[in-house]
Amino acid sequence: MKIFKTKTEIRNYTRLRKLNGEICGFVPTMGYLHQGHLSLMDISITRSDFTVVSIFVNPMQFSPTEDLETYPVDIETDLNLLREKGVAAVFIPSVSEIYGESFQTQVSVTRISLPLCGASRGVSHFTGVSTVVLKLFNIINPDIAVFGKKDFQQLAVIKRMVKDLDLEVEIISGETVREKNGLAMSSRNSYLNANERKQAPVIQEALKEGKFFRLNTSTDSVSVEKHIINQIRSNAPDSRIDYIKCLDADTLEDTSPETDNILLAAAVFLGKTRLIDNIVFSVKSVEKS
Ligand code: PAF
Repeated sequence: MKIFKTKTEIRNYTRLRKLNGEICGFVPTMGYLHQGHLSLMDISITRSDFTVVSIFVNPMQFSPTEDLETYPVDIETDLNLLREKGVAAVFIPSVSEIYGESFQTQVSVTRISLPLCGASRGVSHFTGVSTVVLKLFNIINPDIAVFGKKDFQQLAVIKRMVKDLDLEVEIISGETVREKNGLAMSSRNSYLNANERKQAPVIQEALKEGKFFRLNTSTDSVSVEKHIINQIRSNAPDSRIDYIKCLDADTLEDTSPETDNILLAAAVFLGKTRLIDNIVFSVKSVEKS
């Protein structure tokens, strides 16, 4: 497995392999890899001739009050996992390699970045994500790139950017990987203490309850949100809700009773750890089945 730290090296590597007619798959990450990341790599490896993974904790997507300084890092374990997986190359740039002196350009996907995490973390979060992802696409020039559905809004922002800017990369989404108890895998789960870890699966259970409520009791989004909030408050007493939202999954805007594709999205603090999760379902296909 090749390890590159500079843009020139990774660019030359992918350029050469692509000139030989090989399809390049790409999985961007911030490291501290878990089964969720590895499942995205499986998709990339199956769908391409060689897979590049980036590990870069992107300062531009963290607000000053967030966990940039304490974000978990374990490069050696990551590299071993990537070697075992059969990844062809890893790009591990420094902050100065990505954001050289006087860096001042931002890519902003406006409307779809506004609700959910854009509202609670600030829109600068998604500006940071879209800017770094566009830069990585320009450096690596992948044919396909794989993102997880756990970060549903991030996936929507990237898809929108690719469409709006006519980028020649196919975005593929991977299912959320869960621990046995239903907790969505995330590098930030490592912050949870034993008590918080016990309560964390309540988020997914409450979203499932919310889906049942939306399908069987009420199409009113506020009632669905309240139902989910009550479930979380009663079953995870140490939780603090950041947001619970029922939105149109295609636009991330408000639903109407006719909306078919529904997104139930949650951001919940357990102690200092902010966990996100979601459920997406089509009302029509549930009605048919
Ligand atoms: O999902 C992540 O890990 C990050 O937001 C990403 C896509 C690697 C951009 O920094």
